[in-house]
Amino acid sequence: MDDILTATQTADDADLDASLRPRRLDEFVGQERVKEQLSLVLDGAKGRGDSVDHLLFSGPPGLGKTSLAVIVATEMGADLRTTSGPALERPGDLAAILTNIESGDVLFVDEIHRLPRAVEEILYPAMEDFCLDIVVGKGPGARALRLPLPPFTLVGATTRTGLITSPLRDRFGYAARLDYYQADELAGILRRSAGILDVRLRPDAAQEVARRSRGTPRIANRLLKRVRDYAQVRADGMVTQRLAEQALDLFDVDERGLDKLDRWVLETLCRNFGGGPVGLSTLAVAVGEEADTVTDVVEPFLIQQGLLARTPRGRVATSSGWSHVGLAAPLADTGVSLFDGQG
Ligand SMILES: Nc1ncnc2c1ncn2[C@@H]1O[C@H](COP(=O)(O)OP(=O)(O)OP(=O)(O)O)[C@@H](O)[C@H]1O
Ligand SMILES: [Mg+2]
Repeated sequence: MDDILTATQTADDADLDASLRPRRLDEFVGQERVKEQLSLVLDGAKGRGDSVDHLLFSGPPGLGKTSLAVIVATEMGADLRTTSGPALERPGDLAAILTNIESGDVLFVDEIHRLPRAVEEILYPAMEDFCLDIVVGKGPGARALRLPLPPFTLVGATTRTGLITSPLRDRFGYAARLDYYQADELAGILRRSAGILDVRLRPDAAQEVARRSRGTPRIANRLLKRVRDYAQVRADGMVTQRLAEQALDLFDVDERGLDKLDRWVLETLCRNFGGGPVGLSTLAVAVGEEADTVTDVVEPFLIQQGLLARTPRGRVATSSGWSHVGLAAPLADTGVSLFDGQG
């Protein structure tokens, strides 16, 4: 897939993400409600001298979950330790991290929905009672030991709240869901990034890039770099709206921010399946992607844009979906018009 457009982090933009990542809550643009709630949670803990309750951040890729974990650690003046669900293969992997944790540390577990069950079970007492249950020895001589842990804050991130088991979910004191950003918020992020990267970006150009960033800060930052290249090579470096449009057209970014995979899914749904309803796995095979990618990355944005809908019988294209890919919806109604428009 096209690296410029995918919301998923690629090896290339790990550096870009790191250089542009907000470190303080007031540098985190948008998501006002989440920010207000989170600052209350942090200030409350700070005031009492406690460690912060365990926090869960969910939402599609590139919306700021990792950034919020970094912010929590910075705001609390705590050390951040980072790991991920798939990296913790065995209970011992997590036990090794927990036994090294210090009072007040923030432990960030990315992709927490991918923790193996046996590892997750170690986490329950660690989160709830700050203790670690381990078994020493093997066979008949084995003994169960309970080690106390210092108070710490677990920050979990997931693209899929639905896959988090309820015992795990219940152990978080605060959970926030991040939604796609409004164009104004993305324009704010672009202005901030332009300042850091030293790009001369006109306000109307920031709006143009923002509109085409698929509601996603990571994509906004990436597009900013391409627009900067364009302005530097084809003009005098100043990014105007006209230049931004030309650059984004050149990189095949749709005026609504859809990427190639989004369009491909929508087009396949219309052309091959008459607009649906079609089951997720069938659709995923038809576009040659993992079902997870379709559910986590593609669908949320198409649904939010009112181009696709989930119905009990499968995925359907809405009338806006049909027109977005330049096709006429068939006249025979499939009875899904109820879902049209708003998803
Ligand atoms: N609210 C924000 N304000 C400013 N910049 C942001 C904001 N949210 C995200 N960004 C930018 O987007 C980049 C990607 O965000 P981040 O890595 O936090 O996303 P994520 O939700 O963890 O994604 P993934 O699911 O792929 O791990 C950050 O490095 C930062 O530059
Ligand atoms: Mg992340």
